[in-house]
Amino acid sequence: MLTAKEIAKDIWWVGAIDWNERLFHGYTTEKGITYNAYLIMDEKVTLIDTAKAPFADELMARISQVVDPAKIDVVISNHVEMDHSGSLPVVAKACPNATFYASTKGCEGLKAHYGDIAEFHPLKTGDELSIGKRTLTFVETPMVHWPDNMVTYDATDQILFSNDAFGQHFASSKHFDVDNDMCEVMKQARKYYANIVLPYSPQAAKAAAVVKTLDLKMICPAHGIIWTEHIPDIVAAYDEFTSWNVVDKAAVIYDSMWKSTEKMAKAICEAFVEEDVQAQYINLNDTHESDILAYVMDAKYVCVGSPTLNMQMMPNVAKFLTYFRGLSPKPLNAKRVGLAFGSYGWAPKGPKDVAAVLEEIGMQMPVETLTHQWIPGQAYLDSIQETVREAIAKSL
Ligand code: FEO
Repeated sequence: MLTAKEIAKDIWWVGAIDWNERLFHGYTTEKGITYNAYLIMDEKVTLIDTAKAPFADELMARISQVVDPAKIDVVISNHVEMDHSGSLPVVAKACPNATFYASTKGCEGLKAHYGDIAEFHPLKTGDELSIGKRTLTFVETPMVHWPDNMVTYDATDQILFSNDAFGQHFASSKHFDVDNDMCEVMKQARKYYANIVLPYSPQAAKAAAVVKTLDLKMICPAHGIIWTEHIPDIVAAYDEFTSWNVVDKAAVIYDSMWKSTEKMAKAICEAFVEEDVQAQYINLNDTHESDILAYVMDAKYVCVGSPTLNMQMMPNVAKFLTYFRGLSPKPLNAKRVGLAFGSYGWAPKGPKDVAAVLEEIGMQMPVETLTHQWIPGQAYLDSIQETVREAIAKSL
């Protein structure tokens, strides 16, 4: 078993690594997940966050490598979601002398999840808790990523325990950014943001602004690696992520029955490339929607294609649009250009239904839906260039 790791003087990583987890409530985690928990050995021994329930034994074993769990005085739960609080019932039993803290909403949520395992004491932004040499300060960060979230700042060590914020689903035996492949870490930080935090960007921007006011040597999230030398990189990335700015790139996302819609998708993608717009051609059967979100998060042009199947769009397309709708808020969509397309046999219901969704979620729809009966020939495919050119020209 991995041992507890001292990440700063008297501060220990005691969390868990879920190497083979490949799905986190609907998003693929090809690099696994970590549930980071931290133990501060001060006059009051303090545990910050726990781990998902199946990892309670690992968590307790790592804590026990550093201190008898019965000696823990303070348990801080920065977030109710079960990937961080799932081991609290075990912790509560093993730490009979501990006082438990969470945000006000966190206290309510923890009681709703676990009943009376402990008395949870509420904290609000600006509250301080002395644990000996150190004083911990708390900042509520609602909706990053649930209403209860908060972060904990240790000014003595200049460490921010940020819970979900600045996290990545990335399992590694090396805890620090500098010891990992930063291209992969930043890629996973982007995917995490696109799939977890994107709708809550105004709230995340406030949390990121607070971070900029702090002296920081480390950001210790509850998922993934610890930020040290790359703090400026992740803070800059959050500036970009939270801005809801779009860039000049296109995603052409489709499903097809007999490759007619696929031909249209390819023509649309190539038309964007001809107009010098970066584009990706994405078959929904080959790429998971959570990977698509990581690309499409800041795409200006979102083109979605479906043929008509039983008088509606293809199920894969409906699944993507449902996922996308939840993660892409209207103020962001107002900056995007939508284009629906698809072939049909006797009724263009599939592409029209796609267009209705793109319009309903607030995208600019400057050109008519591209529909074609039966198999599109080369002349029709060539004409798509003009439609794409028009969509670009008419976009805001
Ligand atoms: Fe990592 Fe919102 O839980």
